[in-house]
Amino acid sequence: MKNRPIGFFDSGLGGLTCIPHLMQELPNERIIYFGDTARTPYGSKAISTIRNFSYQIADFLIHNDVKMLVIACNTITSTCLYDLKEKYPHIPIIGIIDPASKKVADSLDSSHHIGIIGTKVTINHKTYIDSILSYNSNLNLYDKPCPIFVPLIEEGIINNEIMNLSVKYYLDDFIFSNQIDTLVLGCTHYPLIRKNIEYLYPGLKIIDPSQEIIASIKKALTSRKLLSDMPYFENTFYASDLSENFINMIDAIFGNTNVKVVFKNFDLEELEHSKAAD
Ligand code: DGL
Repeated sequence: MKNRPIGFFDSGLGGLTCIPHLMQELPNERIIYFGDTARTPYGSKAISTIRNFSYQIADFLIHNDVKMLVIACNTITSTCLYDLKEKYPHIPIIGIIDPASKKVADSLDSSHHIGIIGTKVTINHKTYIDSILSYNSNLNLYDKPCPIFVPLIEEGIINNEIMNLSVKYYLDDFIFSNQIDTLVLGCTHYPLIRKNIEYLYPGLKIIDPSQEIIASIKKALTSRKLLSDMPYFENTFYASDLSENFINMIDAIFGNTNVKVVFKNFDLEELEHSKAAD
């Protein structure tokens, strides 16, 4: 059981931003990743749609014998974490919002002005605000949806002026009028534009939930005696539409390692059928 893979999933390539942190902290763990690149973005979809897609992907990963599910997506975590836990009670499921909320609550105080950015669904759902305030009710929190970031990132429009203008469009007024000093990247795609944000707002402290989630994964595996004790050299990455950007990003993560990476395009019809068959 302990040497089975961990199943990661996201609406697209954003969840891949968790992987380098996982490899650093838990190098023996094998990964099966599913990015729903054909149906991204989730962040402006109806909650019932996001739930339905999440069940399909979770079914698929569980059929692939994963020992744990990691929701490497804030949008799915904010809307479906408890539905997923209820539907799959036999497997540990880790969401991305709680670990980052604890980090914010533990490391900051009322002198800070903390901004949270994410998709429309994540921000409208107020999961970050509720979660952070449940740990520390004295914090100054501000939030802002940034819906154009995910489609641009999926298209690989990152290191250029178009992305910088989009960042300024959403964040200039938000950061300056609220005097934000700390920004939570409440979408797993956003670490990919962290450099743009740091360049435009020097001195801004960034909290990256893709990094914070790793300690929770480690804790959950340790307490259940599920830490892998075999070095793994093969990870599998599925995408519902295997794009060049998806492949390039994985190549950039594993390029200098001896980890073998397998890419697979996973037909959506098959995914929908496997759900319907249940
Ligand atoms: N990476 C997802 C998140 O963390 C992006 C959601 C989307 O597809 O809009 O929310």
